[in-house]
Amino acid sequence: MQRESFGPDGRGNEIELITLENANGTQVKISTLGASLVSFSFKDKTGAMRDVVLGYDDPASYLEHRDIYFGATVGRCSNRIADAKVTIGGVEYELEANSEGHSLHSGSKGISFLAWNVERIEESENFVVLTCVSPHLEQGFPGNMLVKATYQLTDDDALRITYEAISDKDTVVNLTNHSYFNLAGHDSGAIDGQKLKLYAKKYTPVGPVGSIPTGEILPVAGTPLDFTEFKEIGKEIDADFEQVKYAGGYDHNFALENGGELELMAEADCQETGIHLYAYTNCPGVQLYTGNFIGAHTGKGGAQYGPRHAFCLESQYFPDAVHHPEFLSPIRKAGEVCTAITVFRLALDNA
Ligand code: GAL
Repeated sequence: MQRESFGPDGRGNEIELITLENANGTQVKISTLGASLVSFSFKDKTGAMRDVVLGYDDPASYLEHRDIYFGATVGRCSNRIADAKVTIGGVEYELEANSEGHSLHSGSKGISFLAWNVERIEESENFVVLTCVSPHLEQGFPGNMLVKATYQLTDDDALRITYEAISDKDTVVNLTNHSYFNLAGHDSGAIDGQKLKLYAKKYTPVGPVGSIPTGEILPVAGTPLDFTEFKEIGKEIDADFEQVKYAGGYDHNFALENGGELELMAEADCQETGIHLYAYTNCPGVQLYTGNFIGAHTGKGGAQYGPRHAFCLESQYFPDAVHHPEFLSPIRKAGEVCTAITVFRLALDNA
């Protein structure tokens, strides 16, 4: 366990970096800027350390590229809300329309860009608890909300991320972690050859612009969105199928069937490094995003990043669920503690 400065954020805050390491030498670094995962390093099949998430070396770069959300905690409502409006208890609330007239990841004042507090560090159980307060109406949503993010690294190389939130008014709660994985290493280019399996037989298609769900929940069978068996991510990413064309690749919500229990949502595999990812959640959906909009730019240690250099598995309520009674609602009661858990566990193929 190490706690050090990550540098100033240019707004008067000193950002901290917390390192958790387990007996295997697996290591994660978490920044207090947006309670973000900055690195996740694991020994590959040759014993060399590979950092498998994209990121930056300093807080200023995270703020400069805030539309990418590398490793960030996203909320209060991850993903999209159509027309940037939500009605709660008969009152309509206006949100920031930061994406083609819609709200995406709750706009530029989101909790992803706040300097969070280190509330607790527990060396013996290898976890850190970060908190932030999202004031009433700051992002447009009602209620003063306390958000807690716990990052725990276990001895079986699992990073367990637990979000807890409580508000003093009925409001929307839909928190996710936006890590960008590349199992060959963050600096190794396109992820097309890495294999993915999703524990989802259905997905929520989107309209031609703005990636807003149509409200349908359709089978993946027979479409490029079928990842029910391991498939190379790049195999059908450019297929002549309107859903992948709209998004320039995968940027879709898949319907999980976990009934609110912590279960596998996805697995991914890289043959070159032998690194295998197991991802679990108790949330109803997961957004598979293949980094379609990562512009060419420089990241950690001078790495050159670009489109499709990573994939994200964002556990969540379905996009725009606030406008679709057929989707499970992310609107929660005042005083209710809302909990969402996501686990990213790394292993070697032969482990
Ligand atoms: C994803 C979203 C993408 C893109 C990305 C951040 O969750 O679905 O369309 O906006 O976040 O760059």
